Amino acid sequence: MILVTGGAGFIGSNFILDWIAATGEATVNLDKLTYAGNLENLVSLKDDSRHVFVRGDINDRELVGRMLAEHQPRAIIHFAAESHVDRSIHGPGEFIQTNINGTFSLLEEVRAYWQGLQGEEKAAFRFLHVSTDEVYGSLGPNDPPFTEATAYAPNSPYSASKAASDHLVRAYHHTYGLPTLTTNCSNNYGAFQFPEKLIPLILLNALTAKPLPIYGDGLNVRDWLYVGDHCAAIRAVLAGGRLGETYNIGGWNEKTNLDVVHTVCAILDELKPAADHKPYAALITYVKDRPGHDRRYAIDAHKVERELGWKPMETFETGIHKTVAWYLDNMGWVENIVSGEYQKWLATQYGKG
Ligand code: NAD
Ligand code: DAU
Repeated sequence: MILVTGGAGFIGSNFILDWIAATGEATVNLDKLTYAGNLENLVSLKDDSRHVFVRGDINDRELVGRMLAEHQPRAIIHFAAESHVDRSIHGPGEFIQTNINGTFSLLEEVRAYWQGLQGEEKAAFRFLHVSTDEVYGSLGPNDPPFTEATAYAPNSPYSASKAASDHLVRAYHHTYGLPTLTTNCSNNYGAFQFPEKLIPLILLNALTAKPLPIYGDGLNVRDWLYVGDHCAAIRAVLAGGRLGETYNIGGWNEKTNLDVVHTVCAILDELKPAADHKPYAALITYVKDRPGHDRRYAIDAHKVERELGWKPMETFETGIHKTVAWYLDNMGWVENIVSGEYQKWLATQYGKG
């Protein structure tokens, strides 16, 4: 079996569902269930013995050590993190605690476990660390996309904490020989994404006729990757990635935030027109910019395609259509999420209005 950390979050839960469907191999899922973790994402596996859930913190070394000894995983897929840039600006402490200290604790326990393995089991073991393109900093309009050789230049407490965790993983490979793999991925979107991130936030605000907040001039650029494509990329890297290497994963879909928001609004106009028949885009509202807002991210994903044959299957147009349709079909999931904690976050970030 494999051990997944953060498997109740957005990408982790998509990954577990995808993994079991694609491989049939069992997973043990260690997740703290912060505001971002949601076991409802995994309800379809409720009676499936191939998914074992353990609520706990990656900083709890005793628990991690016990889980490794009990389940004897052949690989770790490490998603657990604080993941929202705006939250890292309001309160960086949790980001240091989970993303840096937590990754360190996990690496220490995994190193001890791996060193105790023998022969084939030891040789086949893998630690796959899921990271972000944000570690590379911000690009100008004419800069080439990030490659695996781009220098690290993180600009937010979130990206700095992820960069630190990447460096720890690298060091554990070079110093101790731990068989690591690192993936640096662009912006994911799809089912089960917590509505603090741009796409689900816009969707939900539009459906409730609230303003659609655009930071700054709306011309910041992100590369968008459908979450199912990310899951397939992780499977490919786990199966064939070269030890100690990093792989950039991207969708070849650079879009300005305004483009993304207009696309979401147009799909909603088609699938669920507003009661007043106005286009949803009329709700677009420019708000104060994010401090230190990176202007552009773009990913050169040639290495993973060349070495492992992975490339995204979805275009932005097909992926975003599926995503909007999924939210409209799963308003029950949304309603359960839009709890007191979420309302508190909206008030902190966007004010009471
Ligand atoms: P998420 O915030 O939706 O989920 C994170 C999960 O980790 C939650 O289930 C949470 O409960 C859990 N968690 C947090 N702290 C923990 C701790 N101390 N111990 C155990 N579990 C803990 O995040 P996501 O968007 O699914 O991102 C997953 C990973 O992928 C993160 O490492 C993130 O940096 C990386 N990533 C995300 C994106 C993106 O677009 N969302 C892109 C590239 C990389
Ligand atoms: O690039 C990968 C990263 O993508 C991941 O590492 C992060 O975990 C993930 O959260 C995401 O970070 P971003 O900051 O790019 O995502 P977010 O959805 O927060 O914002 C996307 C863009 O939209 C960004 O330029 C900020 C802007 N934005 C966001 C929000 C929430 C707005 O204009 N208005 C908003 O209300």
